[in-house]
Amino acid sequence: MAIRIEDQNLLFHLQTDHTSYIFHMMENGELGQIYYGKRVHSKPSYDNLVTREWHNAAAVWRLDHKDVQPQVLKQEYASLGKGDFRYPAYQVAQANGSRITEFKYESYELVDGKQRLAGLPSAFDDTDDDAQTLTIALRDKLLGLVMHLNYTIFPHQDVIVRSAEFQNQGNEKLRLNSAASAQLDLPDADYDFIQFSGAWARERHMIRTHLRSGVQSVGSLRGTSSHQQNPFVMLARPNTDDAQGSVFGFNLIYSGNFSDQVQVDQYDASRVLVGINPEEFAWNLKPGDKFQTPEAVLSYTDAGMNQLSQQMGAFYQDHLVNPRFAHEQRPTLINNWEATFMDFDEDKLLSFATTAKKLGLEMFVLDDGWFGHRNNDDSSLGNWFVNEPKFPSGFGTFTQKIHDLGLKFGLWFEPEMISIDSELYKQHPDWLINAPGRHASPERQQFVLDMTRSEVVDYLFDAMSKIIEMTKLDYIKWDMNRNITETYSSQLSADDQLEVPHRYILGVYQLYDRLVKAYPDVLFESCSSGGGRFDLGMMYYAPQAWTSDDTDAVERMLIQFGTSYGYPQTMMGAHVSAVPNDQVGRITSLKTRANVAYFGDFGYELDITKMSPEEQQQVKEQTAFYKEHRQLFQFGKFYRIDNPFANGGNVMSWEVVSDDQKHAIAARYQILNRPNTGYIRLYLKGLDPDTKYTVNGGSEQFYGDELMNAGLFVSDILHETHGTDQSADFNSKLFVIDAVK
Ligand code: GLA
Repeated sequence: MAIRIEDQNLLFHLQTDHTSYIFHMMENGELGQIYYGKRVHSKPSYDNLVTREWHNAAAVWRLDHKDVQPQVLKQEYASLGKGDFRYPAYQVAQANGSRITEFKYESYELVDGKQRLAGLPSAFDDTDDDAQTLTIALRDKLLGLVMHLNYTIFPHQDVIVRSAEFQNQGNEKLRLNSAASAQLDLPDADYDFIQFSGAWARERHMIRTHLRSGVQSVGSLRGTSSHQQNPFVMLARPNTDDAQGSVFGFNLIYSGNFSDQVQVDQYDASRVLVGINPEEFAWNLKPGDKFQTPEAVLSYTDAGMNQLSQQMGAFYQDHLVNPRFAHEQRPTLINNWEATFMDFDEDKLLSFATTAKKLGLEMFVLDDGWFGHRNNDDSSLGNWFVNEPKFPSGFGTFTQKIHDLGLKFGLWFEPEMISIDSELYKQHPDWLINAPGRHASPERQQFVLDMTRSEVVDYLFDAMSKIIEMTKLDYIKWDMNRNITETYSSQLSADDQLEVPHRYILGVYQLYDRLVKAYPDVLFESCSSGGGRFDLGMMYYAPQAWTSDDTDAVERMLIQFGTSYGYPQTMMGAHVSAVPNDQVGRITSLKTRANVAYFGDFGYELDITKMSPEEQQQVKEQTAFYKEHRQLFQFGKFYRIDNPFANGGNVMSWEVVSDDQKHAIAARYQILNRPNTGYIRLYLKGLDPDTKYTVNGGSEQFYGDELMNAGLFVSDILHETHGTDQSADFNSKLFVIDAVK
């Protein structure tokens, strides 16, 4: 598979193992989209697909080409103002106020591989995985503005990565008012728009609605990708489900304000636009300046949403996530946050760590409250030096004791924040983001540092480096606990203020980049009050993220299930916490809490020193079980079986399968028990139909085809819980499936 180019008529066919993406130069010198979907044969031209028909009441390109009418054309990267009235992919304003552009095809370049972008997280091909990159240059002659449309195919994962770059080679100052990363014009609108929406503590719930005339979109203006909407969306045919059917996936390698929109026009054609949110954005392009958009990820399959998630997930592991950690098993951990909040001292932490070690855990993570004089959330952010009263024998000594126990050591930071009650604020009040003459709105009693300033990035790099070196740190939980308000940077001119949201996130990326390069063995986990920045921009630096502050087992089922559509389970931090749960007050069994958390990067976040000996024994067994199957839990192929967003929400099941199909673990969760139900069967997935398997070490042998097609009988839950102190509600069962040797 490869990128095939017809030089005669400038037709570009991007072929992956199972998909084709075809576009060409149109009569007017601009680029027209021809097809994206299941792979088709290569041909020199597709006359059938580019047939023109004249439509009444529509502007035409030229009188001698009356059938070239921009509003009917499928385009690659469209502008507004020359007869196409749909939302445009970009807009450029000239000094005289005109926003009309005419980009004509100039040349193309095709190279093997994929280079990383400078200053932005991006896809790469370090392993010669047959990636190929096509760049099309277009020029607006009047402005001297060059546009590069970049396409990289990753053939074996059926992924195409797109971005655009603008270069001002003219003499006049221009202003980019919007610049999408990708546009896709589809010929009809018979699709469901599937989004992952929610709020703090209930992130990424799946919502599925059929497309209708007009604009449907998700996006963020919070300065982060947000808890409320996620940049991952799908367009699926109405009959598509996890197991079968046609579906497109779109994501953005970006962590700031974004917009994913689909516009259905008067002819029921659908235009998809993915990129930086045009609201609160503009970029000045002086002569000689360039602007590079973030990259969009596009993928397609006709084999259902499990397949889409798997191929996009495989792509992230090989071509996006920091290769140092992408395929490395992640440590089990104990985090002190929900156990102590900020109320701890050295002795308490050491007894935690000692118990954790005894129970088989591998890393101790010290959360918020270890720095400055922070004992509650109204102080000290920015003071990245140790809270001495809490560590009388010195922080280096304390962390050495953790390492001496044979545990890795992890630490929480919230680098982008500042408290008014801090040394940092006393020294640099102007480092706080705020608009002139306005009061800054507090959120969680804290304020945001101006990450557009290089001196802020330098300060944070130096302060964090000292701690990393002193503690020989193994892991950082990088938090970001508020949205950005009064967005303004006092170091930038009035004319540049709409650049602040993007410049902010570039500053964050720069700090990440410097730390990852300086301390390559430190594992980062990103966090933003849980899952407020669960996006591919973060995943490039931090291979895993805290999925949600909500650790209730029932809520977590929904959150992890929704998240699994766009992100593999190895990206999801998942911990067992105490009951009644801190966020919803629900009581679930230790077994069910672990059964949910196993399907991610597993850990505990409760006071293990206060557990009964029986519970501690259970933790020990759970940790040993997880470690035994860690490769499968973290890196196995993930299959969703019963979708709680589609079936009334009472039952959910999923499964992980090893690449060689010899091992699998499935889980079935039931929220409320129901009286007098019929027989229950679980239909497994991804097994080899001709291999014989056992389930939970039992003596009966099943062929894979039986388990997948006829299903596995799940015995009565009530019967199992009689005589125990477990409720039949919030119940769960695990099925360990092994090929017979
Ligand atoms: C956020 C995180 C939590 C914890 C606290 C500490 O809410 O999501 O996990 O780290 O901050 O303040």
